[in-house]
Amino acid sequence: MTDQLLLGQTLHFSGDPLREDWLAVSHQNSSGGVLIRDGQIVEVGDGEALRAAHPNSQVTNYGDALITAGFVDAHMHYPQTRMIASWGKQLIDWLNTYTFPEESRFGDRNYADAVAADTLDLALAHGTTTLTSFCTIHPESVDAFFSAAAARNMAVVAGKTCMDRNARDDLHDTAQSAYDESKALLKKWHGTGRAQYAITPRFSPTSTPEQLSALGALWAEHPDCLMQTHLSEQVPEIAWVEELYPGARDYLDTYEAHGLLGAKGIYGHAIYLKPREIERLAEVGAAIAHCPTSNTFIGSGLCDVIGLARAGVTVGLATDTGGGSSFSMLRTMAAAYEIGQLRGDVLHASQLIWLATEGSARALHMQGQIGSLTPGAAADVAIIDLASTPVIAQRAAQAETFWDQLFPTIMMGDDRAIKDVWVAGRRVRSD
Ligand code: GUN
Ligand code: ZN
Repeated sequence: MTDQLLLGQTLHFSGDPLREDWLAVSHQNSSGGVLIRDGQIVEVGDGEALRAAHPNSQVTNYGDALITAGFVDAHMHYPQTRMIASWGKQLIDWLNTYTFPEESRFGDRNYADAVAADTLDLALAHGTTTLTSFCTIHPESVDAFFSAAAARNMAVVAGKTCMDRNARDDLHDTAQSAYDESKALLKKWHGTGRAQYAITPRFSPTSTPEQLSALGALWAEHPDCLMQTHLSEQVPEIAWVEELYPGARDYLDTYEAHGLLGAKGIYGHAIYLKPREIERLAEVGAAIAHCPTSNTFIGSGLCDVIGLARAGVTVGLATDTGGGSSFSMLRTMAAAYEIGQLRGDVLHASQLIWLATEGSARALHMQGQIGSLTPGAAADVAIIDLASTPVIAQRAAQAETFWDQLFPTIMMGDDRAIKDVWVAGRRVRSD
């Protein structure tokens, strides 16, 4: 296959700008190039030097646009695409009023196929090349999502959402069926093409201790899989967990006591953590998924991203659609910035874009494979127009530095800023 050479501004990181000096670890090249061969990035460097060294490559020149790793959404719910932006409820009422009725439709494979296809196409249109999704209790919903991702050659993480109490009768499995169905799906999909399976108990209120134990046992049998769930999102939810698990030391302990705390665990939200929970997450090397548009939309609270990162917890960035109010990881970065401001923390553009790419890839234990412009990584790439609307263009025109040019797009950009997307070295979208 012909080599592809993408020319434009490039950005890559040699370290973690949340914990290290962002300036020292951020590398921007205003006339950079990315060479792609057989679906992978093989070289990143000066554009003209790459062009001279690879005269037979097919060149796509993006001018002033930014070439970055495709965005990595570390936590979302594809079955909630049809009900994004549902009005007026907080978490438990929102689940009962909007979410569960919609999720009950996913036993119908045709419906699941249609929503999975729309979700992945929406994600690509927003520059997101990897999604980490909850499915529903129906195995059909898992098959639909992984099949749609395989058709697009996208690297995705997903799993059957398990619930054996406190949802609706038609959305309940059991401890045994959750184990059996998750195991069958895991064997079918984990490592098939670019698919990764995540064992997925929804959250402690909708699982009995028996179900959590069964899924903990499954994880122990398949430690190479990820495990995803929710943790400490809203105050009434935490009080409910205390009632349901009277012996637990804290919310995290409801997972820990059942074998569901580990390095490959991704815990969504994690807003109201106690010191013991933060210490344990850091100790085991687990990750949290920060979901800022969801945390404001559902009225959850202000996650201490900087504090968690400095305490040694891995942090990824996520839309949490449809609790989150946008498919755009640009909009999600803006919300993370705003939550930082409300907490008195100022997140730099380098930290925001790192969270949306390499930070999330680290949370998924896929660093080096996705989320960075690094030789050996998959060529999952997004091209960002830094002047995509009149208001952004006029602001970016005043910029004296690259970061000043980028920040207006982070704060005001959306899918209109996504000029192009490449997945595994294939161009999938272009204006
Ligand atoms: N907690 C349990 N389930 C969900 C969900 O679907 N969305 C959000 N935001 N929180 C949850
Ligand atoms: Zn969620």
